[in-house]
Amino acid sequence: MSPRARRVAGLVALGLAGLGLAAWLDGRAPGGAPGIVTTVTIAPDGTGPGVPARTGAGDAPAAAPVAPDPASPDPVARGAYLALAGNCAGCHTARGGAPYAGGRPIATPFGTIHASNLTPDAATGIGAWTADDFARAMHEGRSKDGRALYPAFPYTDYTRLTRSDTDALFAYLRQLPPVSAPYRPHALRFPWSLPWLLDGWRLVYFRPARFEPDPSKDAAWNRGAYLVGALGHCGACHTARDALGGPSGPALGGGALETLGWHAPSLLDDAAGGVGGWSVEETVAWLATGIGPRAVATGPMARVVSDSLQHLVPDDLRAMAAYLKALPGAGTPAPKASRAREPAGAATLGLGERLYRERCEDCHGASGEGGPPHWPALAGNRTLAQASPVNTIRAVLHGGFAPATSDNPRPYGMPPFGPELDDREAAALVSWLRATWGRGASPVDAREVNALRPIPVE
Ligand code: HEC
Ligand code: HEC
Ligand code: HEC
Repeated sequence: MSPRARRVAGLVALGLAGLGLAAWLDGRAPGGAPGIVTTVTIAPDGTGPGVPARTGAGDAPAAAPVAPDPASPDPVARGAYLALAGNCAGCHTARGGAPYAGGRPIATPFGTIHASNLTPDAATGIGAWTADDFARAMHEGRSKDGRALYPAFPYTDYTRLTRSDTDALFAYLRQLPPVSAPYRPHALRFPWSLPWLLDGWRLVYFRPARFEPDPSKDAAWNRGAYLVGALGHCGACHTARDALGGPSGPALGGGALETLGWHAPSLLDDAAGGVGGWSVEETVAWLATGIGPRAVATGPMARVVSDSLQHLVPDDLRAMAAYLKALPGAGTPAPKASRAREPAGAATLGLGERLYRERCEDCHGASGEGGPPHWPALAGNRTLAQASPVNTIRAVLHGGFAPATSDNPRPYGMPPFGPELDDREAAALVSWLRATWGRGASPVDAREVNALRPIPVE
């Protein structure tokens, strides 16, 4: 490719990477954030229960006709399970729409992408598809008619699925009730709407692949590698992108969701999001519920837990835990948090502390001890020590919820403080939290807070 072609492809890539990432953050639909009850009814003393985070309506598919079972000889039962592990319904079900009938608008900075109808309707779904067509879509990111698909559909990870798993997924989708839901064209802004730009991106960044078990590792590790790296597509958020939108740095080395208002921490670094310092049992419990003594899943991660991980069988969660714990870098000592900037001044820190005592202490404790697992401790909380302050600013502005799961159906929530605190106050508060419990992590300024205000709740 000539340097010029590369630059064009690069530009495109930049846009499309955004599309891919934004897909994950799609929690928006016409009419506001779905499934989130925005009025929080928590007693001022902080002891009352939060309201359930999600109504569930429109997010989850209706009860599946078959019991998902990863070990069943019946491909339909296996496919039902694989669809949960891959979270297909999360994108392919529109709010209030029929399960898997697509049409869900996925808002991106470049326009809107609509997920396809995966029900077996002959005219508008995959009714006329063969198992080979379906495998090609999953492995190569091409539709039945040969059209290249946008990487908002994470086929960059699904490409590693085994053929027997794509066949099981196909068998499961084929027996769903067919729903006529016509293709909704994407509404991408120029120049992102030019189809050949997508070809350029694929040329630079996409290689079809297949999962290869590592014979030097045991079966659990290999199963975990498959669940994390193919079906669970954890890297869609947890792997950084370069300026051109291609994966950069090590896989799972920490994502760049900042432009979308989140930071997905490195799973290779135990001071960030790594679980090398957690026991297998603690990791399994956290994956299944998103709550635990040391961390609470929130935002997009809460959705991953409630829509997908909570449905996995314990053996699969143990396999994921074994794989995550064995990642290179897991278990290494925590590096010092960044100290790139001047520490905040005494006046700022004084304001931050006063606000904490007034508004936060009731739930998070005078010494930041919290009340785990429901009210996270802030003392020692690694979120506060991240180089990126994004998730902490977000928590303060927008509040949040742990995931709703069968083990924790009414998760406690944190109310949003964005309406009460101005940018300077919120920045002082976050700077104080980081200085006090974030191992000296850098302060934040009012502009960083301001930039995160308009970003939608999910
Ligand atoms: C992050 C959101 C997301 C997830 C998760 C997701 N998809 Fe999709 N999928 C999309 C989008 C968006 C498209 C449409 C892409 C396009 O039209 O270019 C799509 C397209 C497809 C297509 C092509 C359909 C056609 O008519 O061309 C298939 C097949 C498909 N997805 C299957 C699946 C399966 C199976 C899973 C779960 C293992 C899954 N998807 C998970 C977003 C997602
Ligand atoms: C949609 C984007 C997205 C996907 C997909 C995703 N994550 Fe996350 N993850 C995040 C974000 C954002 C955070 C930070 C917020 C939080 O801690 O909950 C996070 C945090 C984490 C943490 C650190 C928790 C803590 O607070 O210390 C772990 C561990 C984790 N994810 C594991 C996974 C695994 C395993 C998968 C794949 C099954 C996965 N994630 C898929 C976005 C994602
Ligand atoms: C009514 C109880 C309550 C109050 C008051 C409250 N929080 Fe929270 N907070 C929670 C709960 C519950 C969570 C976990 C849910 C979540 O992370 O979405 C949480 C999560 C957080 C997190 C994310 C921790 C992590 O591990 O990701 C931070 C940071 C935080 N709170 C800071 C504050 C600050 C600062 C204030 C004061 C402005 C405050 N909280 C007030 C209940 C509360």
